[in-house]
Amino acid sequence: MLELKKKKSQASSVNAEGRLRHIAFIMDGNGRWAKKQGMPRTYGHVAGAKNFKKIIEYCGSIGIGAVTVYAFSTENWKRPADEVKTIMSLFRDYLDEAEKNWREKDIQIHFLGSKEVFPPELRSRMERLEQESADRRQILNIAVNYGGRADIVHAVNTLIAQGKTEVTEADITASLYTAASPAPDLIVRTGAEQRLSNFLLWEAAYAEFYFSEVLWPDFDERQVDLAVNEFYQRKRRFGGL
Ligand code: FPP
Repeated sequence: MLELKKKKSQASSVNAEGRLRHIAFIMDGNGRWAKKQGMPRTYGHVAGAKNFKKIIEYCGSIGIGAVTVYAFSTENWKRPADEVKTIMSLFRDYLDEAEKNWREKDIQIHFLGSKEVFPPELRSRMERLEQESADRRQILNIAVNYGGRADIVHAVNTLIAQGKTEVTEADITASLYTAASPAPDLIVRTGAEQRLSNFLLWEAAYAEFYFSEVLWPDFDERQVDLAVNEFYQRKRRFGGL
């Protein structure tokens, strides 16, 4: 019954053609959203984390097989200590939740970025979740302590450690943190800024971009539909004619 319901909503959804296989979000604007309401920036991250859960669920319901979110960059450590602490605590909360329900939600989880900065206990929880959920259907990539350049360097060093003296594009693609996902079809940035901020630099080569003025906590299902509709208006040529 549940499966039937899912299939039905997928068929009538904005992604009925199924060409959008991987969507990635730069979840920008949490701080400004909070400020607008006279609240501290951390309040915006709490609302942002709540929205992240809603949006990944919705993307799954419209048949998008892979979702990537930019939760914390290698540069975000420079933010005030209380803000870093809040984001890390929201991340821990999500880990708690994911450990409980990844089976039921059918989610395959990957963490993009080096785990070395995290305490050993957190690191082993992240690794365990990745291993245990590996056979699930919908891919969820959470970029934490992530940088696109660092990912490319990490991939090349992995290949060198394997004894390679020359590498191909396919070698690098297969050694990135996103190796399990198809290349992103659509990269969405909320919060009115129009830049990549060191996100998916290699993978973005042929991605479509969608920039929204809406701040992340307000970016709801209707906003996702607008982005997906826009994606289907684009003519993708991948360098051909
Ligand atoms: C950018 O908004 C947002 C971040 C740097 C953090 C995003 C984190 C979350 C949505 C919550 C934690 C995530 C998970 C996966 C549990 P900003 O702070 O730069 O906003 P601003 O541009 O308005 O200042």
